[in-house]
Amino acid sequence: MPSLLLFPPPASRIAAEYDLLFWLLVIVCGLVAIGIAAFVIFAAIRYHRRRENELPPQISGNMKLEIGWTVIPLLIFMGMFAWGASLYVDMRQPPGNATEIYVVAKQWMWKLQALDGRREINELHVPVGRPVKLIMTSQDVIHSFFVPAFRVKQDVLPNRFTTVWFQPDKPGKYHLFCAEYCGTKHSGMIGYVYAMDPRQYDLWLAQGGAEGSLASTGEKLFHQFGCANCHHFDGHGPCPDLKGLYRRPVLLTSGQTVTADESYIRESIVDPGAKIVAGFADFMPRTFKDQLTEDQIIALIAYIKAIGPEPGAQQPSSTGEVPQSYGETPGITGSGAPGVSSDQPEVR
Ligand code: CUA
Repeated sequence: MPSLLLFPPPASRIAAEYDLLFWLLVIVCGLVAIGIAAFVIFAAIRYHRRRENELPPQISGNMKLEIGWTVIPLLIFMGMFAWGASLYVDMRQPPGNATEIYVVAKQWMWKLQALDGRREINELHVPVGRPVKLIMTSQDVIHSFFVPAFRVKQDVLPNRFTTVWFQPDKPGKYHLFCAEYCGTKHSGMIGYVYAMDPRQYDLWLAQGGAEGSLASTGEKLFHQFGCANCHHFDGHGPCPDLKGLYRRPVLLTSGQTVTADESYIRESIVDPGAKIVAGFADFMPRTFKDQLTEDQIIALIAYIKAIGPEPGAQQPSSTGEVPQSYGETPGITGSGAPGVSSDQPEVR
């Protein structure tokens, strides 16, 4: 009965190892529990008190036994911990070349959007053998993205991004569930991930008409909502130049430096006062939180990610290391944002 499968066959890169570790934990813990229970029963029968005034012989201790039952379980359980920790790190860190997909969860559906603008509802088509990273947020309550065959599950929260990644290694159609009770139709918040042979995937891609890239939607919004009035791309606007901002270190008025990742950009849109760039005043309107949908925020972020430094400028390294020219001047510095280093905050 395939619909009642507790353990669907593993279908992603980490799934087989995940299963092995899971069954090892079950077997080791089961054997320990059974061993202890059996010994308790055996000892109760074999050594129970037989006469009203019976006194047991006094035992002062057994060093070998005590060291043995301390060290052996310690080694077994630390070994399991080390294996579990290393697998966990693998599961949390997407490879650098992963395809990014934005996911918006809402009552009661999944909206999935690729960077090229391809949108799907409750369905995701991915090629086999390539890592996929999902950047997820919720438009209302907490949901949870769960694909049992890939052995991945991650909560999806409003007002922040969470990520999960997987690499399907077998073509097929895999159930996608919402694994967090989110209201009346929680049980209907399901879908499918289609892992396709790369050649079929390219065919499928060619058929589907992408409706403009996500970044181009974001560019329209950037002008529609008046962002361009303050954020000039010549570096002389009253607000930070956003060119080449993504993955760049940003110095704040607090003296802290943060990396401009998706979460930082999102926060700067919905809560502009949270982190003020050094050298700038806190006067961006607070209204965008109510005006923009999660889809629009994602499109804006895609646009900001897409506007890189000017041609010929020094590229931020993909490893996230800081090129040497950064950090000499306050604010968003470096070659990608020429001239954004005004010492006095400009206020309009
Ligand atoms: Cu969404 Cu349960």
